[in-house]
Amino acid sequence: MSIIKAVRGFKDILPEESERWSYVEAKAREVFTAFGFSEIRIPIVEKTDLFVRSIGETTDIVEKEMYTFTDRGDESLTLRPEATASVIRAYLEHSLYASDAITRLFAVGPMFRRERPQKGRYRQFNQINVELLGIDDPRVDAEVILMLNHFLKSVGVASINLQINSIGCSECRPPYRQSLIEFLEDKKDRLCDDCGRRLTTNPLRVFDCKNESCAGIIAEAPRILDFICQACSDHFNNLKKMLTTFGVAFEVNPKMVRGLDYYTKTTFEVTVNHAGSQNAIAGGGRYDRLVKSLGGPDMPGIGFGIGFERLMSVIDIDRALYDRPLQLFIAALGEEAQKLAYELCNRLRMRGIRTEIDYQAKSLKSQMKRADKLNSRNTLILGENELQSGKAQIRHMSTGSQDTVDLKTLEENILTIIKER
Ligand code: HAM
Repeated sequence: MSIIKAVRGFKDILPEESERWSYVEAKAREVFTAFGFSEIRIPIVEKTDLFVRSIGETTDIVEKEMYTFTDRGDESLTLRPEATASVIRAYLEHSLYASDAITRLFAVGPMFRRERPQKGRYRQFNQINVELLGIDDPRVDAEVILMLNHFLKSVGVASINLQINSIGCSECRPPYRQSLIEFLEDKKDRLCDDCGRRLTTNPLRVFDCKNESCAGIIAEAPRILDFICQACSDHFNNLKKMLTTFGVAFEVNPKMVRGLDYYTKTTFEVTVNHAGSQNAIAGGGRYDRLVKSLGGPDMPGIGFGIGFERLMSVIDIDRALYDRPLQLFIAALGEEAQKLAYELCNRLRMRGIRTEIDYQAKSLKSQMKRADKLNSRNTLILGENELQSGKAQIRHMSTGSQDTVDLKTLEENILTIIKER
């Protein structure tokens, strides 16, 4: 019978990779906490309407990529394709805005999009997601981008390419939109089906289109930065100034609009050169109308999502930083010694010492071979001689040095020796 394999686009993170992930996640928690963010854990499933209303009905995510199903209670539910909508749903549901003028939240976990799987693009992928709500000030835009940049550097991302843009607000976007529609209208027959269809409903989506013909047209299109109002322009200029103050290198990309409809003003994306075609490792922006459009108060916000798989594929973490080596291997010969080894092993584990034994009553030689294979830092041999003499040797594998331990106080002795080493 053949084995059942994981679903296409869904993958396992095996133990060694998982340890690297935990290390990077811990780093994110450390950096974000220093910047005043707290973790929120949100559900994976939400009502479909939440994503339709926030991400936008005519986006690729909502039109083509969501895992939507009707549950047994006849309700339309969706596996979250992103976290921002859920974070804001929770922010409103629990009135988090009432306790402080600024709310800073981060969330870590899987997202689901039914895209065509390829390297760096999965149907279940993980994000570290950050949201800052309550204030529309370019200083917080700069702060959020600075934090992202600092975190990426702290885990060793070598060539960070940060692109920023402003996509305007409810004042300046409509005239821009109109001018874009007029520009695209007479080129309609050269646009792909999706873009042709979205021409009047969501013309900005043409900027995201991967179709060559659409990309060629868009290269000549009017640019949002030439249309933004004074307030948006001041906001953008202040953001640029502050990024410069902090020495954060950036490039203005007037064509970067991002694939979700909720953005206003600042948008940004981080790409890394050697990641191949799926090179965006993080993206985000400001969303000043989203909270209100989901039925909440008029609260601005800004945030970003880091694609965890993509991030992990471009960094090299020194194994010593995440490795938790085996601290002790107990080789035991004979029934009585094996019983003692088994008990001691579990008692030491409960004291936090990573300990292993052999359960198969093998020869001393094969047990030592296994200790070697597991790369154990120390070994303890328990045989008849040791039981008789009441003393045993604990050997430090890399130096070969030995300490004699008394079997009566074995557990305490081992703890002291291992901690000293
Ligand atoms: P996004 O650009 O759709 O933004 O996703 C953020 C990051 O998630 C991307 O830059 C990429 O690294 C990763 N990602 C997206 N799709 C996939 C995939 N299929 N496979 C692997 N990685 C992927 C958002 O999701 C916004 N919610 C970010 C945000 C937060 N904006 C404001 N606050």
